[in-house]
Amino acid sequence: MTEQTVDWPALRAAALAATAHSYSPYSGLAVGSAALCDDGRVVIGCNVENASYGLGVCAETMMAGQLRLGGGGRFVAVSCRSGADVALTPCGRCRQVLHELGGPGCLVDTDQGVRSMAELLPLAFGPEDLP
Ligand code: THU
Repeated sequence: MTEQTVDWPALRAAALAATAHSYSPYSGLAVGSAALCDDGRVVIGCNVENASYGLGVCAETMMAGQLRLGGGGRFVAVSCRSGADVALTPCGRCRQVLHELGGPGCLVDTDQGVRSMAELLPLAFGPEDLP
Protein backbone atom coordinates (compact mmCIF):
# COMPACT_ATOMS: atom_id res chain seq x y z
CA MET A 1 0.00 0.00 0.00
CA THR A 2 1.43 3.37 -0.98
CA GLU A 3 0.54 6.82 0.27
CA GLN A 4 -1.39 7.42 -2.96
CA THR A 5 -3.59 4.32 -2.75
CA VAL A 6 -4.85 5.05 0.77
CA ASP A 7 -8.24 6.81 0.93
CA TRP A 8 -7.03 9.48 3.36
CA PRO A 9 -10.27 11.54 3.34
CA ALA A 10 -12.25 8.43 4.36
CA LEU A 11 -9.71 7.54 7.05
CA ARG A 12 -9.78 11.09 8.44
CA ALA A 13 -13.60 11.02 8.47
CA ALA A 14 -13.59 7.71 10.37
CA ALA A 15 -11.16 9.15 12.94
CA LEU A 16 -13.31 12.24 13.37
CA ALA A 17 -16.45 10.12 13.77
CA ALA A 18 -14.68 8.10 16.49
CA THR A 19 -14.18 11.28 18.55
CA ALA A 20 -17.94 11.20 19.23
CA HIS A 21 -17.31 8.18 21.49
CA SER A 22 -14.43 9.79 23.41
CA TYR A 23 -14.63 10.01 27.19
CA SER A 24 -12.43 13.01 27.91
CA PRO A 25 -13.96 15.08 30.72
CA TYR A 26 -10.55 15.96 32.22
CA SER A 27 -8.52 17.18 29.26
CA GLY A 28 -11.47 18.26 27.16
CA LEU A 29 -9.62 16.89 24.14
CA ALA A 30 -11.70 14.32 22.29
CA VAL A 31 -9.41 12.13 20.19
CA GLY A 32 -10.36 9.62 17.53
CA SER A 33 -8.17 7.37 15.45
CA ALA A 34 -8.75 5.16 12.46
CA ALA A 35 -6.50 2.69 10.74
CA LEU A 36 -6.61 0.90 7.44
CA CYS A 37 -5.53 -2.70 8.03
CA ASP A 38 -3.71 -5.04 5.68
CA ASP A 39 -6.92 -6.98 4.96
CA GLY A 40 -8.74 -3.78 3.95
CA ARG A 41 -10.85 -3.29 7.03
CA VAL A 42 -10.83 -0.07 9.05
CA VAL A 43 -10.56 -0.13 12.84
CA ILE A 44 -11.15 2.85 15.10
CA GLY A 45 -10.36 4.00 18.62
CA CYS A 46 -11.07 6.89 20.97
CA ASN A 47 -9.45 8.14 24.15
CA VAL A 48 -10.97 7.09 27.47
CA GLU A 49 -9.84 9.11 30.48
CA ASN A 50 -10.03 8.37 34.18
CA ALA A 51 -10.38 10.31 37.43
CA SER A 52 -7.02 8.74 38.25
CA TYR A 53 -5.44 10.73 35.45
CA GLY A 54 -2.57 8.41 34.63
CA LEU A 55 -4.95 5.57 33.81
CA GLY A 56 -6.34 7.32 30.75
CA VAL A 57 -6.05 5.40 27.50
CA CYS A 58 -5.17 7.02 24.19
CA ALA A 59 -7.25 6.51 21.07
CA GLU A 60 -4.47 4.65 19.25
CA THR A 61 -4.02 2.18 22.10
CA MET A 62 -7.75 1.54 22.13
CA MET A 63 -7.51 1.00 18.37
CA ALA A 64 -4.76 -1.59 18.86
CA GLY A 65 -7.22 -3.57 20.99
CA GLN A 66 -9.84 -3.26 18.28
CA LEU A 67 -7.34 -4.56 15.71
CA ARG A 68 -6.85 -7.71 17.77
CA LEU A 69 -10.54 -8.11 18.66
CA GLY A 70 -11.50 -7.75 15.02
CA GLY A 71 -9.33 -10.60 13.86
CA GLY A 72 -5.76 -9.32 14.07
CA GLY A 73 -3.67 -8.18 11.15
CA ARG A 74 -1.45 -5.17 10.68
CA PHE A 75 -1.89 -1.41 10.57
CA VAL A 76 -1.16 0.01 7.13
CA ALA A 77 -2.25 3.64 7.44
CA VAL A 78 -3.37 5.68 10.44
CA SER A 79 -5.24 8.93 11.00
CA CYS A 80 -5.66 10.59 14.39
CA ARG A 81 -7.97 13.61 14.75
CA SER A 82 -9.34 15.87 17.44
CA GLY A 83 -13.04 16.55 17.87
CA ALA A 84 -12.37 19.86 16.15
CA ASP A 85 -11.13 17.87 13.15
CA VAL A 86 -7.48 18.79 13.54
CA ALA A 87 -4.79 16.22 12.74
CA LEU A 88 -3.01 15.01 15.88
CA THR A 89 0.38 13.34 15.78
CA PRO A 90 0.46 10.23 17.98
CA CYS A 91 2.17 10.61 21.35
CA GLY A 92 5.41 8.79 22.04
CA ARG A 93 3.82 5.80 23.73
CA CYS A 94 1.33 5.41 20.90
CA ARG A 95 4.12 5.55 18.33
CA GLN A 96 5.61 2.49 19.99
CA VAL A 97 2.21 0.76 19.91
CA LEU A 98 1.71 1.61 16.23
CA HIS A 99 5.24 0.46 15.42
CA GLU A 100 4.59 -2.90 17.04
CA LEU A 101 1.44 -3.58 15.01
CA GLY A 102 2.26 -1.68 11.83
CA GLY A 103 6.03 -1.75 11.58
CA PRO A 104 8.31 0.96 10.23
CA GLY A 105 6.41 1.18 6.94
CA CYS A 106 3.05 2.05 8.49
CA LEU A 107 1.89 5.45 7.24
CA VAL A 108 0.62 8.17 9.57
CA ASP A 109 -1.26 11.31 8.61
CA THR A 110 0.15 14.48 10.22
CA ASP A 111 -0.47 18.18 9.81
CA GLN A 112 2.79 18.24 7.84
CA GLY A 113 1.77 15.47 5.47
CA VAL A 114 1.94 11.71 5.54
CA ARG A 115 4.91 10.25 7.40
CA SER A 116 6.10 6.68 7.93
CA MET A 117 6.54 5.19 11.37
CA ALA A 118 10.25 4.99 10.59
CA GLU A 119 10.22 8.80 10.42
CA LEU A 120 8.07 9.24 13.53
CA LEU A 121 10.00 6.71 15.61
CA PRO A 122 13.55 6.47 14.26
CA LEU A 123 15.90 3.81 15.62
CA ALA A 124 12.87 2.15 17.20
CA PHE A 125 13.04 -0.67 19.68
CA GLY A 126 11.05 -3.54 18.25
CA PRO A 127 10.36 -7.27 18.29
CA GLU A 128 13.66 -8.00 16.51
CA ASP A 129 15.57 -6.57 19.46
CA LEU A 130 14.36 -9.28 21.78
CA PRO A 131 16.42 -12.45 22.19
N1 THU B 1 -4.32 11.40 23.42
C1 THU B 1 -4.60 10.41 22.55
O1 THU B 1 -5.69 9.81 22.60
N2 THU B 1 -3.68 10.09 21.62
C2 THU B 1 -2.48 10.72 21.48
O2 THU B 1 -1.66 10.30 20.66
C3 THU B 1 -2.18 11.90 22.27
C4 THU B 1 -3.06 12.13 23.43
C5 THU B 1 -5.29 11.73 24.45
C6 THU B 1 -4.89 11.34 25.85
C7 THU B 1 -5.72 12.28 26.68
O3 THU B 1 -7.00 11.68 26.88
C8 THU B 1 -5.90 13.51 25.81
O4 THU B 1 -5.50 13.12 24.51
C9 THU B 1 -5.05 14.68 26.27
O5 THU B 1 -3.71 14.34 26.40
